Amino acid sequence: MLAELSSELIVEVQRTAKLLVAKQRICVLTGAGVSAESGIPTFRDKQTGLWSQYRAEDLATCTAFARDPQLVWSWYQWGRQLVSDKTPNPAHHALAQWQQHAGLKNQQLTIVTQNVDDLHEQADSTVTHLHGHLWRNRCSQCDMPHNGVSNSKSFNRVTSNRNSSDNSSTAHNYNEKLLNCTDCGGYIRPDIVWFGESLPSEAWQTAENAAANCEVFISIGTSSLVYPAAGLAQIAKQNGAKIIEINPNPTPNTVVDITLVANAGVVMPQLFSQISVLLS
Ligand code: OAD
Repeated sequence: MLAELSSELIVEVQRTAKLLVAKQRICVLTGAGVSAESGIPTFRDKQTGLWSQYRAEDLATCTAFARDPQLVWSWYQWGRQLVSDKTPNPAHHALAQWQQHAGLKNQQLTIVTQNVDDLHEQADSTVTHLHGHLWRNRCSQCDMPHNGVSNSKSFNRVTSNRNSSDNSSTAHNYNEKLLNCTDCGGYIRPDIVWFGESLPSEAWQTAENAAANCEVFISIGTSSLVYPAAGLAQIAKQNGAKIIEINPNPTPNTVVDITLVANAGVVMPQLFSQISVLLS
């Protein structure tokens, strides 16, 4: 398996594994790149098909929902359809295995994600979601949770009133039926943090504490463009942690000590395999 990596990368993975086994407290931040090899487009990938005329950054906002709730709701319903059959890739599995292994070896591995999919959970990781959950809904007015779509498994059932061609993601249109809150009548929205909104305070507290107290911070598959999540690496660095980045592309993160330039689904299994050998 190591043959998949260049000799330089193998050396870097081995160096990283040695560093990691010598530490107790590790914080991992994941972004859309960790789910890319599961077939979920990253946030800043150009949208395709029906939605190619829109930018994700322009739809994931309160202003967009206030202006055209049906458009924004339809986009999320399309996204749910796209994600509903996706499964964890080797990066999710390696992180879950490491987290379980770490518990037995007196290591603490805190996983924080910006992703709204549930692929870390599907792989059996314990994870803190900073940007909410794709499969949860709440009222846009009174915030009451709404159980219309609760998880990926139930999505097809919930949408089964459409005709049979609706299995294709392109079958979704701009006119998905809006739902109303049973309590106040407000429109139901996805329980996702939009641009300009605050992060859930408990999740942020967990992430900030983990970053401030870790000895190594690993940033996986994120463009490091969106704050406050992108600031976690700086918090970790200021508190003396080493910073590792796993990303095939450059990012503006300037506090990185080790960069593993490759896809997470290739690097993470190799890294975990080295760690488990060194820890055993
Ligand atoms: P982005 O779409 O901004 O960045 C994805 C990153 O993943 C890029 O840096 C890619 O180079 C990298 N990448 C792509 N494929 C990869 C792979 N196989 N392995 C590793 N890395 C890979 O996504 P995020 O950084 O997650 O928030 O975006 C952060 C936030 O921006 C999102 O959570 C979203 C958006 O605002 C909200 O919706 C609130």
